[in-house]
Amino acid sequence: MLKVTLAGATGWIGKPLAAAISHAEDLELVAATSRSSAGAPLGELTIVGTTEEALETPSDVFVDYTSATAVKRNVLLAIDAGRHVVVGSSGLSDLDYQEIDAAAQAKSVGVIAVGNFAISAALLQQFAAIAAQHMPSWEIIDYAHDAKPDAPSGTARELAWRLSQVAPPQTKIAVADTQGRPDARGAEVAGSQIHSVRLPGHVIAVEVLFGREDERLSIRYEGGPGAEPYIAGTLLAIRKVSAVRGLQRGLE
Ligand SMILES: NC(=O)c1ccc[n+]([C@@H]2O[C@H](COP(=O)([O-])OP(=O)(O)OC[C@H]3O[C@@H](n4cnc5c(N)ncnc54)[C@H](OP(=O)(O)O)[C@@H]3O)[C@@H](O)[C@H]2O)c1
Repeated sequence: MLKVTLAGATGWIGKPLAAAISHAEDLELVAATSRSSAGAPLGELTIVGTTEEALETPSDVFVDYTSATAVKRNVLLAIDAGRHVVVGSSGLSDLDYQEIDAAAQAKSVGVIAVGNFAISAALLQQFAAIAAQHMPSWEIIDYAHDAKPDAPSGTARELAWRLSQVAPPQTKIAVADTQGRPDARGAEVAGSQIHSVRLPGHVIAVEVLFGREDERLSIRYEGGPGAEPYIAGTLLAIRKVSAVRGLQRGLE
C-alpha cells in the first residue's frame, strides 16, 4: 500500500482525487489538507489546515492540488520531510523547478510535475515536439476561464519548456525590437511567446501555432468542464514517482 498525503483535498480536482485514492486497492489516503475545512471528516480522516500538520502523519507520496501561491512552499516542505511529490498545481516557473529539482536530488526523492494530467494534453506536448522539429517558428495561446488566478497556465508553461528542449523558435524581429508595444507580443517563457486569454465561457485550452513560409499548422488541446481526465494521470504519477530521483516534468 502506498500512503498518500493530499494537499487541497476539497478542491475541484482534490475532491474527486481523494475519492479515487480511497477507492484504489493499492493506495491509502492518510492525510488531507484544506484551510477552510480543517476539522471536517473525509472518509475516516479528519482534514487538517496546514501542510506541516499533514506531514506529521507518515506517508510515501505528497500530492499538491492547491494554488499557485501555495504550491512551491508545500512541495519544498514535503521534499524536506522525505516524501516523493506529485505536483498538479500550476504557477511554478522554470527557476522554481530548478530549485525543486535540486532539493529533491539532495533528499534522493522523486518529483513528478505535470502541467496537465489529461491524456489529450500529453498528446499535445508530444505532437508539438514532433512539429517543432520541422516547423521552426511557433507561438502559444493559452485560454482559460476568467476566475483562473495565474497565467500562463501550467499546460502552456510545460509546453513552452518541452519545445525549448527541441530548439528555440525562430523569429525575424526580436520581441524587444517590436515597434509600438512589445508586450503585445505576449510573455516569453522558455523562449516561446505565450498569449494568455482569460474570459468567461472558456474552460481550459492551449493552442500552439506553427508557421513557415506559405504554410501553417495549429495543434489545439481543449479540456471540458469535468475533472475526470486529470484523475487517471495523477494516479499513474502517484504510483510511479517513487522510481524517480529528482524532478521529472511531464507524464512520459
Ligand atoms: N495538472 C493538472 O492536470 C491540473 C488540472 C486542473 C487544475 N490544476 C491546477 O491545480 C490547482 C488546483 O486547482 P483546482 O481547480 O482544484 O482549485 P480549487 O478548486 O480552488 O481547489 C484548491 C484546493 O486547495 C486548497 N487551497 C487553495 N489555496 C490554498 C492555499 N493558499 N494553501 C493551502 N491550500 C489551499 C483549497 O481549500 P482551502 O481554500 O479551504 O484551503 C482547495 O481544497 C490549480 O493550480 C490548477 O491550475 C492542474
